[in-house]
Amino acid sequence: KLAVNASSAGQPIPDTLFGIFFEEINHAGAGGLWAELVSNRGFEAGGPNTPSNIDPWSIIGGESYLDVLTERASCFNRNMVALRMDVFCDSSGANICPQEGVGVYNPGFWGMNIEKGKTYKVVFYVKSSGSLNLSVSFTGSSGMPILATAKVIASASDVSDWSKMEVLLDAQDTDHNSRLQLTTTQKGVIWLDQVSAMPLDTYKGHGFRTDLVEMLVEIKPRFIRFPGGCFVEGEWLRNAFRWKETVGPWEERPGHFGDVWMYWTDDGLGHFEFLQLAEDLGAAPVWVFNNGISHNDQIATSSVLPFVQEALDGIEFARGSINSKWGALRASMGHPEPFDLRYVAVGNEDCGKKNYLGNYLKFYSAIKQAYPDIQIISNCDGSSQPLDHPADFYDYHVYTSANDMFSRNHRFDKTSRRGPKAFVSEYAVTGKDAGGGSLLAALAEAAFLLGIEKNSDVVSMASYAPLFVNSNDRRWNPDAIVFNSSHLYGTPSYWMQRFFTESSGSTLLETTLQAISYNALVASAILWKNSEDDKSYIRIKVVNFGSSSVKLNISIIGLDPNSLSGLSKTVLTSSHVTDENSFAQPNKVAPLKTPLEVAGNDVVFELSPYSFTSIDLLKQ
Ligand code: AHR
Repeated sequence: KLAVNASSAGQPIPDTLFGIFFEEINHAGAGGLWAELVSNRGFEAGGPNTPSNIDPWSIIGGESYLDVLTERASCFNRNMVALRMDVFCDSSGANICPQEGVGVYNPGFWGMNIEKGKTYKVVFYVKSSGSLNLSVSFTGSSGMPILATAKVIASASDVSDWSKMEVLLDAQDTDHNSRLQLTTTQKGVIWLDQVSAMPLDTYKGHGFRTDLVEMLVEIKPRFIRFPGGCFVEGEWLRNAFRWKETVGPWEERPGHFGDVWMYWTDDGLGHFEFLQLAEDLGAAPVWVFNNGISHNDQIATSSVLPFVQEALDGIEFARGSINSKWGALRASMGHPEPFDLRYVAVGNEDCGKKNYLGNYLKFYSAIKQAYPDIQIISNCDGSSQPLDHPADFYDYHVYTSANDMFSRNHRFDKTSRRGPKAFVSEYAVTGKDAGGGSLLAALAEAAFLLGIEKNSDVVSMASYAPLFVNSNDRRWNPDAIVFNSSHLYGTPSYWMQRFFTESSGSTLLETTLQAISYNALVASAILWKNSEDDKSYIRIKVVNFGSSSVKLNISIIGLDPNSLSGLSKTVLTSSHVTDENSFAQPNKVAPLKTPLEVAGNDVVFELSPYSFTSIDLLKQ
């Protein structure tokens, strides 16, 4: 029996309780959420040295037709490497170029998704020894068929120095595994740099892949933590994410090699874009910055001030007036209004490292002095004992087995009610219980989140991790959303989070569960107001983490029986607890919503084995 007490005032749940954590891991951003189709667009992926690694660019045409190399010849002095093509063949004469031309192609991040009827903007920088006659095309993965093409023709004087070109390509056909080609049939030397291709229909025109953002919109996240994770730390400090390298015109950003997750990012998705994404989602940005500590090296506290200044400047970039140095840069990027940055985290998983506390205190006092309202998150876990340093929140991460995650629905029951609040910024069931994202994992996580709802007087924020995986580069398993160039699906853990979309800012109702000798049930109830229709709703959520089906009698206390009407019952379950979703079966484990007739305050439900059920009632 589950008794829900709707007569007392209940406990307010923080507005920020459920959000998301975006990390540049698994090609979540580069080749994912950031809609740039070209991989290694600046030919910089090999680092500052030449010849640099032009991978995944490849050459079209044999040695007798052209030679391709990289040179430090760019017009951008923070990313000097450019591509040089010496074309020996011509449209006539002794060495005639093949009809399809010679040049280079880029397959994107495991194939570009080009869709019929859509328009794509290709931008590149070019310099030439003579006049220019270049074909810009999207083609199939072998160079055929041509899906969209345009010619870029310029006189020698127009391209004797670096010149920016823009082409709009209208796709005549669809291919999820396309490539971008730049080809010519004319002799001469051509230099190329910063070759970008983007669909025109990005989310709100801000450069984000629409289908992926829409999955986030459906979670209604109240905050977004970014950009990592270990990505912020780096194996070595020289490879850490440093925000100043990621702002300003995209062509001028140097890009960097993320040495934890082992891939190059051109940082098109930079500090500005993360703040923009937060704003577009209506989520509070939570910025994690590097605190002078990586996995393998650390800055001494006595030398950490440049990092502190970098953090202060990053806050000024987000919030400063357009008359401030960094606020002016933000304005020049198209956002004169400040972003609503109110939360920052000093590093990631660095508590206990030699310089953490010393460095943390430097950041804390400088930020509080300059921005007293900014809430600061410490890496040290304060859930079992009080922190020995000042903080507004402490970070709590948990990756564990399903049984352990289930039992953690009591994790914060005994946490001190005084002091900083918990930010559960990373949680997930991992290992064999989770596979690539199982129902079992999602149910255990649901129980954990129900415990968080009940303890939301001491837990203010929670987010699953990791959020995204490009299926071609699974660095971490499982993840909430799996995608490739054109398709995506949510794992059960993604769908589980959808049950909590109304919880942030709602009221927790007191619940008492009497389940004689069956300890696999966890439940909670909330009262929430829908601003769209101004009506109040009760949502009761129950996890059955056991193999028996359960008859549950729900009794709602303190309400006139005529004031309640049943709306819907939503269930997340499947025939096997190990079931997962896939590209072939994206909805094998997905919530099933059915209408619900309820008369009176006592309702009996059958809870399937291994299931998560939400019961929605309208309160008149
Ligand atoms: O979520 C994956 C990784 O797990 C994060 O980068 C790190 O913070 C944690 O160890």
